Formats: sequence, structure tokens, C-alpha cells
Amino acid sequence: MKYKICGGNALHGELRVNGAKNCVLPMLACCVLTDETVTIDNCPKVQDVLDMADILSSIGAEVSWQGDSISVTCKNVDGNLCCEKVGKIRASLFLLGPLFARNGFVSACLPGGCAIGKRPIDIHIDGLKRLGAEVTWENGVCCSGKVHGNDVYMRFPSVGATENLLMCASLSDETTVLYNCACEPEITALEKMLVSMGAEIQGIGTSVVTVKGGKLHGTRVSAIPDRIVAATYILSAVCAGGDVWVTNCNPRHFSVLNNMLKDTVDCYNVYGDAVHVVKKKRHCAVGMVRTAVYPGFATDMQPLLVASQCTAFGKTVVEETLFENRLSNAVPLQMLGADILCRSDKIVINGVPALSACTVGATDLRGGAALVLAMLGAQGTGYVTDIHHIQRGYCELEKSLRQVGADITIVD
Ligand code: UD1
Repeated sequence: MKYKICGGNALHGELRVNGAKNCVLPMLACCVLTDETVTIDNCPKVQDVLDMADILSSIGAEVSWQGDSISVTCKNVDGNLCCEKVGKIRASLFLLGPLFARNGFVSACLPGGCAIGKRPIDIHIDGLKRLGAEVTWENGVCCSGKVHGNDVYMRFPSVGATENLLMCASLSDETTVLYNCACEPEITALEKMLVSMGAEIQGIGTSVVTVKGGKLHGTRVSAIPDRIVAATYILSAVCAGGDVWVTNCNPRHFSVLNNMLKDTVDCYNVYGDAVHVVKKKRHCAVGMVRTAVYPGFATDMQPLLVASQCTAFGKTVVEETLFENRLSNAVPLQMLGADILCRSDKIVINGVPALSACTVGATDLRGGAALVLAMLGAQGTGYVTDIHHIQRGYCELEKSLRQVGADITIVD
């Protein structure tokens, strides 16, 4: 399936942000920590979430949907993560810590996810060893033993490893101190969820987190708004032009983006739970940008920002520090007429007045969405192919964009 996009329509109206898939995925893994029911509200029905729910069902969880809420009950769960979907999504890795802690055993094939870099799992594994896992490698990874508390120093503040280890440590009644934790808002949401299930956690939202757990119980939580979807909507207005309200979001979760854009478009106003963007004339380049861990500029927003800078007035330099293949999205943008110079970990974008639509292929989630944004502002009609990558993380992106005036449809 592909998107057919006739570029050039300015966008007008409201785009409402859904719950964050990167918040829901670890929350779904967290359900394994109790035999009681856990309900997650504001849950987006995107492919990654549906796949994670299927993985939970495959190990014995009862999973049901009520509108945007998902309920999971794990009376008995199996430690063998062997269904084909485990290899498909990166988030299956989140189940290692919780299943090891609950069953004393987990075996899994290696996780999939976007082809944006090497993505080793050494920080997860080192941490799990510190928490009592004996780790062996055979057709994947196997952890066995009894979970216990410990001090864990992560060599890098990995989002996934922080989440995995927080969940694992929460089933031990001994104290664990995690050092050099990632501090993304989705981690804070997970920490609050664990507290609502009975874990004692100090240092929530900081880089040193102390966890004392034990037997956990069921809970009802709500996913935070998706900051990457919010950025996608904001930058779609920058690419296509128009007057757009992005609502139901938390702008404090993307302050760097707000700060970059506030003086480069005709109007950029930030409210408590909304952003108002007006772009009538050509926008100015944002200058120098470097991706970093939170609260720095998110790597997931980088391809989207790059798409918007292709038609800016002036020069933008983007440095990617998290994932080595993430600047490769410059190539399809060059096919649309963007003037981009590629260095190893940097790209230099000299804005051109307009891009010209053509056929380009999505190769990963955010890179694919970035191509859609670029095409919205381009001249002529073009196609973005392989949109299954985009559907992993966006709820009917085409429908939302159509509501504000974009000419985008799915064709075979
Ligand atoms: C999560 C997000 C992803 C986002 C990324 C960085 C989810 C489901 N995915 O991915 O959208 O782009 O955070 O914000 O929440 N690393 C290692 N060893 C490890 C783990 C990570 O070297 O064991 C490296 C990675 O290769 C990468 C860096 O650490 O260079 C950051 O990765 P990490 O924070 O773990 O990202 P994910 O949790 O995979």
C-alpha cells in the first residue's frame, strides 16, 4: 500500500494528538508483573501496539479492548517468547525484565524494530545480570534465576533499558538503585504506573532512581500524549503552510522544538495543552540542531524537522548522535529536489523554494512520516510507498491530515 499525495494544499483546522505508543508499549509489558487486571486508557491502536498485545496473548495473557482502553490480565504467563511478532517489534525486548522477574525464566528471539542503526541490547543484558539473571545465548537470549536488588550503572541512558530494569527491579522486595537512567516523559509515566501498582520509587523522572518492590497489584492508568505525533502535526503545518491548532498534547515534552520554531514561522504560540502554528510566507531555517537524550532534541523528531527545513529560507545543520542510519532519509528527500549535503554524522540542508513530488519509499517509521510531510508541501502529485512502516506508529495519519485539508489517500 502507498500514499498518493497531491502537494500544495495549505492546512487549516485542529489536529488532536493521541496517546503515545512509546508510553503504551512498556506499560503493556508492565502488565506481566501482576496476576490482577491492568487497564491502560488513551491507547492508540497502531500496529506496534496491536503486535505487542498479540505477543502478550501468545504467552497466555487475557487481552481485551474497550474503545481506546486496553485491559490485560496475566493469571499465568509463559516465559517462552517465540511467536513471529517478537522478532518484528523492538518493544518485545521490554518483556525480558518483567518475565524474568515473574517466572525466574525468559527465553526470546532477538527483537526487531526500525532499521535506524545497530541497536545492541548490551545495557539491558548487563542490568538484568546485576538483578540476578544468568544469561545464555541460544537462538536468541535466555535469562534464568531469581530477581534481587542491586546497584546498576548504565553506560548510556538507554530508554528501553531503563524501562526494562525498572520493571524487573519492581518485583524484588530488595532495594535497587539505577544510575544514569534515561528521563524521557514515557519513563516517568511508567514509574508512576509502577507506584500505582504498589512499588516504592524515589527519584521519579530523574537519572538516579531507587526502586523497592515486592508483590504488585492491578491498576488503571492513562498513556501520555504522543510528543512525536504532536511534532509531526506541527511540522506538517510548517511544510504545507496554513493555520493549524495541535491540541491534546503536552508542549512541555517538546520544549526544544517549540523554542526552535517560535521565531521561524509567522506565528507560533504555545498553550498548556496545545500549540497554534501559522505559516503563510516561507519559513526561516532553524540553524544548528543536534539530537540528544531527553530533555534534548528527540532523535524521533529529527527526520520530521529535516523534512521541514528542506524548503526553509537559509541553512540548517543537523547532527544525529543516537542512531547511525537515521540521516539516510536525506536520500529520498534529495529525490524530491532538496539540497542536502551528507557528512558521516551530519547533514547540511540549504533550503530551496519548493520540492517536486515523485515516488519515494518509507524505510522506517519516522523517516516515512517525514516523506509524507515533505510531499504535502511539494509541487505536483507523488507517492510514498511501504506505508506499513508509518502505520506502526500513526493512527490513520492520512485521515487526520485530510481533516485539515491535505489531499492524501491510500492506494494499492
Ligand atoms: C526508544 C524509542 C525510540 C527512540 C529511542 C531514543 C521506544 C519503543 N522506542 O528506543 O522511538 O528513538 O528510545 O529516544 O520507546 N543502546 C546500546 N545498548 C543497549 C541499548 C541501547 O548501545 O543495550 C544504544 C542504541 O543503539 C542507541 C542509544 O543507545 O544508540 C539509545 O537507544 P535507546 O534509548 O535504548 O532506544 P530504544 O529504547 O531502543
